[in-house]
Formats: sequence, C-alpha cells, structure tokens
Amino acid sequence: MAKSKKRKKLTVPGFVELKGAGRKICVLTAYDYPTARLLDQAGVDAILVGDSMAMVIQGHKTTLPVTLDEMIYHGEMVSRAARGALVIVDLPFPTFHMGVHRAIELAGRVLKETSCQAVKLEGGQEQQDVISGLVSAGIPVMAHVGLRPQSVHTMGGYKIQRNRDQLLTDARAAEDAGAFGIVLECIPRDIAAEISQFLRIPTIGIGAGPDCDGQVLVIHDLLGMTGGYVPTFVKQYAKLSETINQAVGQWCDDVRDGNYPADEHWFE
Ligand code: KIV
Repeated sequence: MAKSKKRKKLTVPGFVELKGAGRKICVLTAYDYPTARLLDQAGVDAILVGDSMAMVIQGHKTTLPVTLDEMIYHGEMVSRAARGALVIVDLPFPTFHMGVHRAIELAGRVLKETSCQAVKLEGGQEQQDVISGLVSAGIPVMAHVGLRPQSVHTMGGYKIQRNRDQLLTDARAAEDAGAFGIVLECIPRDIAAEISQFLRIPTIGIGAGPDCDGQVLVIHDLLGMTGGYVPTFVKQYAKLSETINQAVGQWCDDVRDGNYPADEHWFE
C-alpha cells in the first residue's frame, strides 16, 4: 500500500540491516526530481539512478551511450528529492574499467556532485580490486552480477546467465571486496536463492526470482510507460502510456473543437 508519512533517511548500514530483519527490500529506478519524490513518498527503500536511463530516457538501444556527466546531472535531481530513500547512482561504462585510481576519482565525483550515498557498478570477480578500492576510499558500492547490460556485446545479447560457478564466484568476490549489496539480474531462481542464502549482504533481484532479499525494477516498466517491449519478469502495475495517450488526445480534441480553454481557464 502507498505511504506518505515522513521517515528517516535510510543509510547504507540500515539497508544491509534490512536483510537481517528479514524485510524484503524495495528498489526502483528514477531519473528526475518529480518521479523520485513520488517513489520516496510511496515508501521505496532505495532509488537507483540506473544507466537504464540511456534506454528509457534517452531512447538509446543499449545502456552504453550515457555519460558520467549525464548520470551526475540526473543523480543530483534524484538525491534532492529523496528524503527517506537511499540513493544509489550507476557508474556508466567505462568509468570503472580504467584502473582503481580513475574509478575512485570518477565515483568520488558522483558522490560529491550528486549527494547520493552509494554507487553501483557491473561486475563481481573481475571488478574485485575496483570495489575494494572504492570501499577503502569511503565510497559504498553495490555490485551487479548475472546479466550485465554494459557487456551486452560480449554476452551476445540480453540473455539469462546460467553459469552457476561463475555467478557464485562473482557474488562471493563482490562481498569479500566490501560491496554492501548486489544486484542479481536474469539468473535462474535456484542460483539466486543459493547466493542469497550464503551472502551476508542483501541480494536485489531483477528477473532472478522471489528468493532474493529484495527486488528492483525500472520504473517505466512497472508503470507501463514504455509502450513497447516489456521483459517477461516485469509486472505492470499501471498503463501510464495509455493514460497519457488518452489525456493528450482529449486535450488536442478540446483545443481543436474550441472547448479548451473554457470560461474558468482565462483572466479578464
Ligand atoms: O540500470 C539499471 O536500471 C539497472 C537495474 C535494472 C538493476 O541496473
């Protein structure tokens, strides 16, 4: 049920404690102030300024084109809106592939310029040094294993990832490096359940089944705003694209028919 009462700002340790308390964690993406404000008021635990922004906001085919400056621009709006929710900003490709020092410099910019509380990066085992470098620098990191959209070309498309040994290794490596949470994207339910059981940090699933410690979705998918392809793991709770289409169509009809503006809409 939607909530609107004031709440305390969730911290990174508070986010981790939700797992111990056995409370499922709700994470949604947002990319602007009004959306983040609504999600915050509705009671989500964390807002992710995902690099999915490249696709749902900028209209690109992959997440690769979005830049660090663009992530910072949107991350700052979201942080300003989120009074209670933890705010996590994605590190876009290839900001964390250029060595630990460069990653600290760029993730440091994200933290300083957006006032978010944490960053997310795609990877597990192969990013262990970067995760531990960022964490040592005081930058909380959420890892992301399974389907990694930034590696779409290497992976040969957006496919379910089934290599159990690699997934377990990635998850363990991320936790050992100091990540405070981990996104599990498009992996089989039993592997996600196994990872969720052996990790101390929360697992946040997307297309990874019900046994994760929390769930994340792209807000445009949940609200039915894309009007196009919707992944099978998405449950749509509204059809805003239809609502908007109807409302705007009605407004155009009213303007063209002389029904808007009416008497109450103008000044003498
Ligand atoms: O970029 C994004 O929105 C994400 C989530 C889908 C996990 O990484």
